[in-house]
Amino acid sequence: MYVITGATSRTGSVVANYLIEKGQQVRVIGRNAERLTTFADKGADIFAADPADPAALIKAFCGAKAVYVMLQPNYIATSTDFRAFQDRIMDAIMPALEKAKIKYVVSLSSWGADKPEGTGPVAGLHQLEQRLNRIAGLNVLHLRPGYFMENTLSQVDNILTRNTAAGPFSPNVSFPFISTHDVGSAAGEALIKLDFLGKQVRELHGSQNLTMLEVAAIIGKAIQHPALTYIQDSQEQTRRDLLNLNFSEHIIQLILEVADAMNASHIQMLEPRSADNSTPTSYERFVYETLLPLYKQRTTNS
Ligand SMILES: NC(=O)c1ccc[n+]([C@@H]2O[C@H](COP(=O)([O-])OP(=O)(O)OC[C@H]3O[C@@H](n4cnc5c(N)ncnc54)[C@H](OP(=O)(O)O)[C@@H]3O)[C@@H](O)[C@H]2O)c1
Repeated sequence: MYVITGATSRTGSVVANYLIEKGQQVRVIGRNAERLTTFADKGADIFAADPADPAALIKAFCGAKAVYVMLQPNYIATSTDFRAFQDRIMDAIMPALEKAKIKYVVSLSSWGADKPEGTGPVAGLHQLEQRLNRIAGLNVLHLRPGYFMENTLSQVDNILTRNTAAGPFSPNVSFPFISTHDVGSAAGEALIKLDFLGKQVRELHGSQNLTMLEVAAIIGKAIQHPALTYIQDSQEQTRRDLLNLNFSEHIIQLILEVADAMNASHIQMLEPRSADNSTPTSYERFVYETLLPLYKQRTTNS
């Protein structure tokens, strides 16, 4: 049996479905059993638990062949110490993996997780890797994906309210864009193969590197707004936008830090792009399949 933490997440749901489709026995964990019923309908065992509850995780992990481990996001206004939130989840996961004598873990890390600090929320994933690496006898594969394409869904609001794509990133620095579907599929494949031993890292570069100006051009073509461009917002503008979206001041600081780290290439992939670390979904396909429907829905509703 495979156990999937964060099973309702964008990546976790793909991992769970990938394994179910391969005929594997799967146990999915999330905070709310109702949100897990789609997996139960496909034959999965559902397990409602808070990700920071060690006793529940021991039970959930018992008997597992392998576990997909992730640190959930918590960006709401009441989140005043995100690193402490990440630590609480790790404090629950580590003893649970040890007590349940788990032999294999695929963990969701990130590009930039090689750096201990100066990377915003990614510093927590550095810790996740370090703590998993300290578990004797555990075989762990840390997946280090690039920048999620889904982050650019926020451009729909920018386009509708400001007639431009915008954000804290430099317009001309290129980032490795990856779809969360590809991340989940890579994790599912690794869980089926279980061909990693000891402590390993696998970078996932997505399909292509793009600058934010290139991202805006692709979106502009899809929404038939060929003049669409991208402007880099000031930190103050980004802070105001995120406050309006109910992000806490603390999280905003971390987001500004990660943006600075990406702009300065403090966060960067360590390997050159190759067929092995690239994944199939192009940004164009993501835009047509995911961003464009959202844009159309918003324009119809407004
Ligand atoms: N964004 C990027 O570009 C990027 C790049 C590399 C790595 N990462 C990492 O990827 C991970 C996120 O993966 P993802 O996109 O698959 O996740 P996601 O879809 O954003 O995860 C959402 C899930 O997290 C749980 N959750 C939400 N708020 C919570 C809270 N306050 N307390 C506990 N659980 C909560 C919810 O599950 P339930 O309600 O069902 O419990 C929800 O379904 C993070 O660790 C992030 O650092 C992100």
